[in-house]
Amino acid sequence: MKFGWKDCESNSPAETIQIGECFSQILEPGDVLAFNGELASGKTTFIKGILKGLGYKQSVTSPTFTLINEYPAKIPVIHIDFYREEEMGRWIKIGLNDYFLEDNIIIIEWADKLKELLPKDAIVMNFSHSGLDNRKIELVTN
Ligand SMILES: Nc1ncnc2c1ncn2[C@@H]1O[C@H](COP(=O)(O)OP(=O)(O)O)[C@@H](O)[C@H]1O
Ligand SMILES: [Mg+2]
Repeated sequence: MKFGWKDCESNSPAETIQIGECFSQILEPGDVLAFNGELASGKTTFIKGILKGLGYKQSVTSPTFTLINEYPAKIPVIHIDFYREEEMGRWIKIGLNDYFLEDNIIIIEWADKLKELLPKDAIVMNFSHSGLDNRKIELVTN
């Protein structure tokens, strides 16, 4: 088992960043993270933490419109958002599969929208509201 925990609760955005930062330390090139959870459940905030943990100092925003953001962190991170583009053919055309072949860490928001595109060994995580400033972060597979 790669990860020593199943789920946790965050009580603030800062805490979610801290958890993401900590989580980043066990990531390796080639890992594909598939994130699910409703709007504002903390997916992007957690990714900010991962990038902080990987030494990336610039701003991180959700690629809702750009579809793919590339961050040259200690391990290159490819940040993808399936939210606005649910057509599989479009992603294949953009070259999504090429990113999987390289030694990147791939993180996909709204991954459930196009499950068919995910590799079998994707690390699936679920984010949900558990209060105004509380979010549950669950590891679905490991
Ligand atoms: N514990 C928490 N963790 C993460 N975000 C939180 C938390 N509490 C409140 N928030 C707020 O919820 C929103 C989360 O947004 P974001 O990370 O972009 O979510 P998503 O990418 O899932 O849509 C932010 O406005 C943030 O300030
Ligand atoms: Mg987001």
